[in-house]
Amino acid sequence: MEADHRCLLNERNQITDCDLSEQIKAVTKESHVQAENTKVMLAFQRGQLTLQQYKLLLCSLYKIYEALEEELDRNSSHDGVAPIYFPQELARLESIKKDLEHFYGADWKEQLTVPAATLRYAQRLREIGRKHPEYLVAHAYTRYLGDLSGGQVLGRIAQKSLGLKNGEGLSFFSFPAVSSPNLFKQLYRSRMNSITLTELQREGVLQEAVRAFNFNIQVFEELQNLLSTSEETELRQRHKTHSPKMSDAG
Ligand code: HEM
Repeated sequence: MEADHRCLLNERNQITDCDLSEQIKAVTKESHVQAENTKVMLAFQRGQLTLQQYKLLLCSLYKIYEALEEELDRNSSHDGVAPIYFPQELARLESIKKDLEHFYGADWKEQLTVPAATLRYAQRLREIGRKHPEYLVAHAYTRYLGDLSGGQVLGRIAQKSLGLKNGEGLSFFSFPAVSSPNLFKQLYRSRMNSITLTELQREGVLQEAVRAFNFNIQVFEELQNLLSTSEETELRQRHKTHSPKMSDAG
């Protein structure tokens, strides 16, 4: 059951009187709509994602999960991390490596394309891992609960639209240690709600969740720009080779 209505706004327009899992969902609601409506995500939902887009997305996800999971591992016994630390069930880095190897071959690491927005996102993850491990829950929530929600639908769309067989190149979407994503999300939310936070820390976590969504949106937008530019260059190149100018004709 949706429980957003239990969150009340106080005189300073802050959300109060509800669990962290409800607050975080409420404060990121608009950002979620924005993320869903980026060009890359719209193309994804419509089954129009190209293999090139998917490969670039995997490169960025590699750098993001590398930073996220290294910081979660390093802080796994921190009070704000331990309750939501589920490497067995959730860790994505090895799956992404498998997918990258499938598409790029054994030397995938040398072929990674990492846009600036992705680097900024990874830097922020490492910074909060050092300075504010209690904010990691905001990032883990944004990525993992997203992967277990819309991500499951996106995986099935990608399989069809990219014509990938036997789950090859799609490990990222598969969570073999999670038999029911819905039940697992419930468990994850209750673990989030068990974290003890001061009011200031709670506000910090909520702000960080909005930031986490914004980082994702910026990554998608940069990927889109990269592709538009490379498509334009390709079109120009093709135009040059296929339609010689009068002067070229000799
Ligand atoms: C939840 C769809 C993109 C993060 C969900 C849910 C759906 C969904 C259907 C379940 C809502 C519910 O249980 O109430 C989609 C679609 C997307 C997309 C179609 C794009 C094509 C994203 C992105 C992120 C994200 C890019 C973040 C990077 C989340 C999170 C939740 C969620 C954190 C859990 C919300 C909660 O229960 O607290 N999404 N999503 N989603 N999504 Fe997305």
